[in-house]
Amino acid sequence: MDQFAERRSRLLNEITDGAIVVPAGHLATRNHDVEFEFRQVSPFWYLTGFGEPDAIAVLRPGSEKPYALFVLPRDPKLETWTGLRTGVEAAQEKFGADVAFTTTELDTELPKLLADYEQVYYALGTDQKLDALLTDQSVKRRRMAPRGDKALNSIVDPMPVIDQMRLIKSPLEVECLQKAIDITAAGFDVAFKTAKPSVFEFEVQAEMEHEFRGRGSERNGYPSILASGANSCILHYISNRDRMDDGSLLLVDAGAEYEMYSADITRTWPVNGTFSPEQKDVYEVVLAANEAGIDAAKPGNGAMDVHDVALKVLTQGLLDLGALKGDLDALITERGFLPYYMHGTSHWLGLDVHDSGIYRTGGRTGPSIKLEAGMVLTVEPGLYFGPFAEDAPERLKGIGIRTEDDVLITEDGNRVLTSAVPKTVSEVEAAASVN
Ligand code: GLY
Ligand code: MN
Ligand code: MN
Repeated sequence: MDQFAERRSRLLNEITDGAIVVPAGHLATRNHDVEFEFRQVSPFWYLTGFGEPDAIAVLRPGSEKPYALFVLPRDPKLETWTGLRTGVEAAQEKFGADVAFTTTELDTELPKLLADYEQVYYALGTDQKLDALLTDQSVKRRRMAPRGDKALNSIVDPMPVIDQMRLIKSPLEVECLQKAIDITAAGFDVAFKTAKPSVFEFEVQAEMEHEFRGRGSERNGYPSILASGANSCILHYISNRDRMDDGSLLLVDAGAEYEMYSADITRTWPVNGTFSPEQKDVYEVVLAANEAGIDAAKPGNGAMDVHDVALKVLTQGLLDLGALKGDLDALITERGFLPYYMHGTSHWLGLDVHDSGIYRTGGRTGPSIKLEAGMVLTVEPGLYFGPFAEDAPERLKGIGIRTEDDVLITEDGNRVLTSAVPKTVSEVEAAASVN
């Protein structure tokens, strides 16, 4: 619980001119009276460590009791069906709230908590009930301001501040990420061994995810992608229903979640254990781009430099493979690579697979933010000769390859957290050997 308290106090040091209201997630109906599995939303978790739905955290700078938590009320009847709830007493004793209320008290208690603040930090649009309650408060307090009430002058988004905090990972967060990655690496070992010609993609998925669960991962950080053959050219292919052909590649993009932190790893390998010459040609280009991107991931470089460096290798590779013609720099400036490389090379990684935090300041073409120790990002170049790349050389059609690592920026460079996962041609072929 200490890390959550420390984050709240840091946030209260950053935001001193308004109360901060951060909602938990809500259950979503799947059908009739069945709900989708609940996973707490990350900003709320980051500040509270509280995993139940419908809760609301209120942080009040300058108050003697700065942390208020609204939680679902205890309810023996409902709890018999859907599980035990924490309730207001344990919200204080176990979760460090200075004051706690039930969510049924929100309409009466939240206005009191906010009455002394002219400004409220809340991300409008994230919670329908709070949207209505806060805009209503704004109207009511404006009406009563001439009689001495403090007006609620502005509702400001706190997420940029919280996102910035989340961008730099603490040693404990890095430990959790490493554990998520180690679990995922063990799942990849199983996937390498399970994938064989005529096996279904979902069979490999089941074995891999069985390994995740067995090693202590409650759930995945995102739906696993097991894309064989031309499916590998669909970036987020998650149906995983096809049977794998002899001679085809399998692209696996998966990440176990551990203590709410997600891994994000991609490897592509031949299901029969041996790359064809054209598969290998493409693989080597993607691998070189991955390695060049990782080399560029160091303090002082911009986050977008990683992309620029990898993109240059990929585009040169596309020229060498005969997929593009022309001048390298012009192809990059005019985005001639787009039929074969249509995604970014990196994103932040943490509680969310696409973790919070900005990549640039000053607009779409503004300068990239500088990498700093404690940031974690993916490096995931790929090349895809998919169904819409009609001009692709015939011999490359249907090949899709991505190689994705998770990289921690350190004071003097970086640490590849995913280094245990086979990556070179010979490592991948050895891991995938069908014998
Ligand atoms: N797994 C989604 C991604 O690599 O961004
Ligand atoms: Mn990724
Ligand atoms: Mn991925």
